Amino acid sequence: MQDLFSRLDAEKPSREEMAAGAWLLNRYALEDANNLLQEIEGISDAAPFRHMVTPGGFSMSVAMTNCGTFGWVADRRGYRYEKNDPVSGKMWPVMPDRFMTLAVSAAKQAGFPDFVPNACLINRYEPGAKMSLHQDKDEKDFTNPIVSVSLGLPATFQFGGLDRKDAVRKYLLNHGDVVVWGGPSRLFYHGILPLKEGVHESAGRARFNLTFRRAVL
Ligand code: SIN
Ligand code: FE2
Repeated sequence: MQDLFSRLDAEKPSREEMAAGAWLLNRYALEDANNLLQEIEGISDAAPFRHMVTPGGFSMSVAMTNCGTFGWVADRRGYRYEKNDPVSGKMWPVMPDRFMTLAVSAAKQAGFPDFVPNACLINRYEPGAKMSLHQDKDEKDFTNPIVSVSLGLPATFQFGGLDRKDAVRKYLLNHGDVVVWGGPSRLFYHGILPLKEGVHESAGRARFNLTFRRAVL
């Protein structure tokens, strides 16, 4: 019985405050997760995943695409938001209602009731892919939080402080976990350690991450 109860406990949504304004909402998107993965498939049919090149000339190990009014892009000229996919010249796919509803309600849970995203960056990590410590600072207004949804293989998220040299804490992000950071921690450094080898029952040999932002007012 003990085992059964502890297992059921581990499957329930729970929350953890990571820093002022930053919350890990464990399993918050779990019920929706397979539908979210399906939506990602549809989006990537229209706007395929690609490895963007940084201003320094390095190809990113994470493959990316976007949906919503604005999409985040990197190229030799810098980092910015664009209304059109530079690969096709077409607008980014519309943000699915299911994405919007999830992002708005997760933000509300974390104390940001006014958040309405207009950009969703979709990251695809295959084993070995990583995201070095960085700040999300290409948005116009830092009063809006970041809402980040993890799907597929687990990954280690590093969450630091306002200074790149600040100590980082590590959190294992599993399928269906949501992290929200805003207010005092909106510009905290964060990153993802190299993805470990594995195969996820719904997502295969990959981790997907949805990052919702209000890019432009
Ligand atoms: C990001 O910071 O853009 C990605 C974070 C993540 O993959 O969880
Ligand atoms: Fe980020």
